[in-house]
Amino acid sequence: MGLSTRQDIEALVTPFQVHRDVYTSAEVYRLEMKHLFANTWVFVGHDSQVPNKGDYYTTQVGDQPVIMVRHSDGEVKVLYNRCPHKGTKIAIDRTGNTGKFFRCPYHAWSFKTDGCLLAIPLKKGYDGTGLSETESAKGMKAVGAVEVYRGFVFARLAPEGIGFAEFFGDSLSSIDNMVDRSPAGRLEVAGQPLRYMHRCNWKMLVENQTDTCHPMVAHESSAGTAVRIWEEMDAPEGTPKPAAMQIIAPFMSPYEFFEEMGIRTWPNGHGHTGVHHSIHSAYSEIPGYMDAMTAAYGEERATAILGENRHNTVYFPNIMIKGPIQQLRNFIPLGPDKTLVESWIYRLVDAPDELVARTAMYNRMINAPTSIVGHDDLEMYERAQEGLMSDGLEWVNVQRLYREGEDFDTTAEENGTTERQMRNQFHAWVKFMTASMPRDAAREAAE
Ligand code: FES
Ligand SMILES: [Fe+2]
Repeated sequence: MGLSTRQDIEALVTPFQVHRDVYTSAEVYRLEMKHLFANTWVFVGHDSQVPNKGDYYTTQVGDQPVIMVRHSDGEVKVLYNRCPHKGTKIAIDRTGNTGKFFRCPYHAWSFKTDGCLLAIPLKKGYDGTGLSETESAKGMKAVGAVEVYRGFVFARLAPEGIGFAEFFGDSLSSIDNMVDRSPAGRLEVAGQPLRYMHRCNWKMLVENQTDTCHPMVAHESSAGTAVRIWEEMDAPEGTPKPAAMQIIAPFMSPYEFFEEMGIRTWPNGHGHTGVHHSIHSAYSEIPGYMDAMTAAYGEERATAILGENRHNTVYFPNIMIKGPIQQLRNFIPLGPDKTLVESWIYRLVDAPDELVARTAMYNRMINAPTSIVGHDDLEMYERAQEGLMSDGLEWVNVQRLYREGEDFDTTAEENGTTERQMRNQFHAWVKFMTASMPRDAAREAAE
C-alpha cells in the first residue's frame, strides 16, 4: 500500500467515512504501533496491582512488552521488558515480586527496580571496553513518561509529546466519579481480569462502547429472552427484581432511552454515553452504602457523586471504564485482526462488599467468555472483520447525526444515538498517527 506520509494516513478517514484498510491492513497496524500507541497516553494498570515494593505486573503498551513495578522509593515505574544485554525478556510471569532488583535469567545482569544497572557478573571482562559509554550500561529502559492518576497508571512511550493533562482534559471526571464512589476515595483491583481473544481489529471494540443503536438488535436473542422469561413469570406486585435482571433488562431499552441518555465528547478522542441516565441508573440501593458515603462526603456531595451514572467512557485509544460499576476494559491489539480483551473490576475501599459482588456479576454476565451478552457483540465484530475483506465497498460509514463542520477540539453534548464519538476517535486517530510522520511537501504544494 505504501503509507509513508501524513497525507497517506489522512486519506483513510473522511469526515464521516473510514477506509476499510484502517481495520484490515497489516501496514496500518504496524504504523499504529509505531505512532499512535507511542504518541498517546496508554493504560498500563492500576497501582493496587503492585502494592508492595518489588511487586510487578507485565503487560504491553501497543506491541511493546513492559513491566509495571513498585520501586524501592514507593513510586510506580514502567520499564521495557527487555534486557539491555542481549534482549531477553526479564520478567515472564504476569505478576510477582522481584525483591530489591531484577535479575536477567540469561547471564545474570541485575537491575534496580527503576531499571538502573546494578551489577554484571565477571565485570572485569568489560574493563577498557567502553561499555559504560553505551546505552546497555544504563540498564533497563524506562518508557517515555508515566503518570498515575487516582491509582490508574498511564504511559506515553515517546519521550516527547502531548502532556497527560492536555491529552485527557475534562474526561478525567469519569475516573474521578468512579474513585469518588469509594468512601475512602480509593479503588483496589479485585483479582485478575477476565481475558479473552477476539478475531477482529481492536478499534471495532472501542467503537462498540458508544454504539447505542445495537443493544436492542444484537442482544435481542440474549437480553430479550431473559426479559421475556421474567415477564412470563408474572411475579406478584412488589417482587424485587433479581440483581441479574436489573443488569440485563436495560439492554432491551428502546431507542428513545438511548437517544435521551446523551453522549458527551471531549477533545483527543475521549467521550462517554450516559450524560443524563444510563443502563446503570436503576440498580437497587445496597444497604449501608449511602450512609458510608454521607459520613465521608456529606449528604449533598454523596448524592451528587452517586447521581452521576455515566454508561461507558472511552479513553482513547483503547480502554473503556464504567464508573458506576467500577469496571475497566482494555482492548489490547495483537494484530490487525486479533485483539486481547481484559475486563478488570475494582473494589470501592470502605464500601459494602455487595457492590463488588454486583460488579463481578456484571462482568461474568455481560463480558465473560461464558457470558450470554458478550457473544452477541463478538459475532458482530468477527462478521464485520470478514465482511470488510470483501471488495463490495471500500468505506465504513459513521455518519449518524453528522453535521458539516464538526469541531472536535471542543466538548459537545448530543443525542445519545449520534456516531459523533466514533468520528471523534477517528479524528484523534489521524492526529496521533501523523504527529511524528513527515509531510509530503511536494504533494502539498501541488494541492
Ligand atoms: S541477555 Fe540479559 S544478561 Fe545477558
Ligand atoms: Fe453489545
